[in-house]
Amino acid sequence: MSSYDLVVIGTGPGGYVCAIRAAQLGLKTAVVEKRATHGGTCLNVGCIPSKALLHASEAFEEAGTHFADLGVIVSAPKLDLKKMMAFKDEGVAGNTKGVEFLLKKNGVDSYRGTGRLAGAGRVEVIAEDGGNQLLETKNVVIATGSDVTKLPGVTIDERVVVSSTGALELESVPKKLVVIGAGVIGLELGSVWRRLGAEVTVVEYLDRVLPGMDGEVGKQFHRILGKQGITFKLSSKVTGVELGKKGATVTVEPAAGGAAETLQADVVLVAIGRVPYTDGLGLETVGVQVDNKGRIQTDSHYATNVTGIYAIGDVIAGPMLAHKAEDEGVAVAELLAGQSGHVNYAVIPNVVYTYPEVASVGKTEEELKKDGIAYNAGKFPFTANGRAKVNHTTDGFVKILADAATDRVLGVHIVGADAGNLIAEVAVAMEFGASAEDVARTCHAHPTLTEAVKEAALAVGKRAIHI
Ligand code: FAD
Ligand code: NAI
Repeated sequence: MSSYDLVVIGTGPGGYVCAIRAAQLGLKTAVVEKRATHGGTCLNVGCIPSKALLHASEAFEEAGTHFADLGVIVSAPKLDLKKMMAFKDEGVAGNTKGVEFLLKKNGVDSYRGTGRLAGAGRVEVIAEDGGNQLLETKNVVIATGSDVTKLPGVTIDERVVVSSTGALELESVPKKLVVIGAGVIGLELGSVWRRLGAEVTVVEYLDRVLPGMDGEVGKQFHRILGKQGITFKLSSKVTGVELGKKGATVTVEPAAGGAAETLQADVVLVAIGRVPYTDGLGLETVGVQVDNKGRIQTDSHYATNVTGIYAIGDVIAGPMLAHKAEDEGVAVAELLAGQSGHVNYAVIPNVVYTYPEVASVGKTEEELKKDGIAYNAGKFPFTANGRAKVNHTTDGFVKILADAATDRVLGVHIVGADAGNLIAEVAVAMEFGASAEDVARTCHAHPTLTEAVKEAALAVGKRAIHI
């Protein structure tokens, strides 16, 4: 029997990063993965393929709409969807191979199969052909991620009724796409297919898009996506999806009850959230506790109630984000090696990769009000930023929320081109406990979109220059 200091189950961003960090720190480490390739949801069917399609579909739309404004005259672009999908698949393969290379380079052993907890200090690896192998280990980190939340009564066939996985692989552009859920997946993949020519209707249970994000951001983003041609049915619930000869009929009712209406769709995307994935892990055999949402319960050091078993990433509480999983992977590896691994949950950026992008870090205005924290808000629109003006990317704004007494930055919310990159500077500032004045007094290069961040910081003290 092979024996290890650490066996990590699952090689998504949480698991593979954890294994590499543990190996760097001298722990004899193995990973167990049941997929054919490493990288988990993120690299195979999540972050990477969705961003590839967002990038390619944005280029397609730009070529057909904005190029002429720049004096670039091209004939109407034609879509080669097969080629676009091949572009996406090539990106996925490049990334998953990269993880395989990194695991090997760091001396991490890889086992292919389903990992099952088989008693104290033992992990059984069950291969697809039924063969099994036992690994002995001092510690186990569970990093088995999450899976799609199912809508009761609606069967996902990944052809007409699809999850995000099917929506990343459609063979033709649907004429009508109905998206259930105005969260991150619904709006990112809804944007992809709208840009490629689909008529997109998003049905959302709540009265706003992107619940959980700052309310003002949600409102503006809703307006912008509406102008782009996405139709929203907010405060509405889907009560049934019936497959027809071609496509499906979706029945929608007001969330509060009332008359039903039907929508015809060629494809229906179910994007109502994700749930922790623990199937086949054998949690019950060793008595690992989960909470009422099926998430593995851990303490602040990622330890479960069973000695030697830890858990990280989407399978535990917290935002289901790749970078959160990665940072937890590093933290738990460092803790196992006797160091002081730690994740600052107050500073985890959240980005939606549409056009414009939406990015946020820290507290929203709604949270500050609820917590009774007095704050000053500084806001700066991209219409007043020189670079955004010249590039015709003036949608959106930067909003900085700072403590009224100390001026410490408590939250930053951006809608705008490249918001995902802009948020990094304020995340670093917040990690260092910066005040809005610290950000405002930092020299920002001209002409860049980052000047809108500086101006929003100036606006906290009511002294923005360009507005
Ligand atoms: P996962 O990535 O889910 O990896 C878990 C791995 O464990 C899988 O490979 C699985 O096969 C394996 N596994 C499960 N059970 C077993 C077992 N018993 N034995 C062996 N292996 C097992 N997040 C972002 O931060 N940015 C984004 O842009 C983004 N885009 C997304 C787009 C989509 C369409 C989706 C669906 C998700 C997206 N996410 C994004 C979320 C992100 O993918 C997850 O937060 C992240 O992958 C979680 O990492 P993880 O390591 O916890 O789990
Ligand atoms: P989500 O939680 O972001 O959004 C789900 C939406 O569906 C919510 O607005 C919710 O109110 C709505 N909803 C729930 N039940 C409904 C119903 N019955 N009818 C209508 N609407 C309903 O979940 P989503 O979009 O599925 O994404 C899952 C997770 O994946 C996200 O929480 C995020 O953590 C991760 N992700 C991250 C991305 C990023 O960082 N850019 C991109 C894609 C996914």
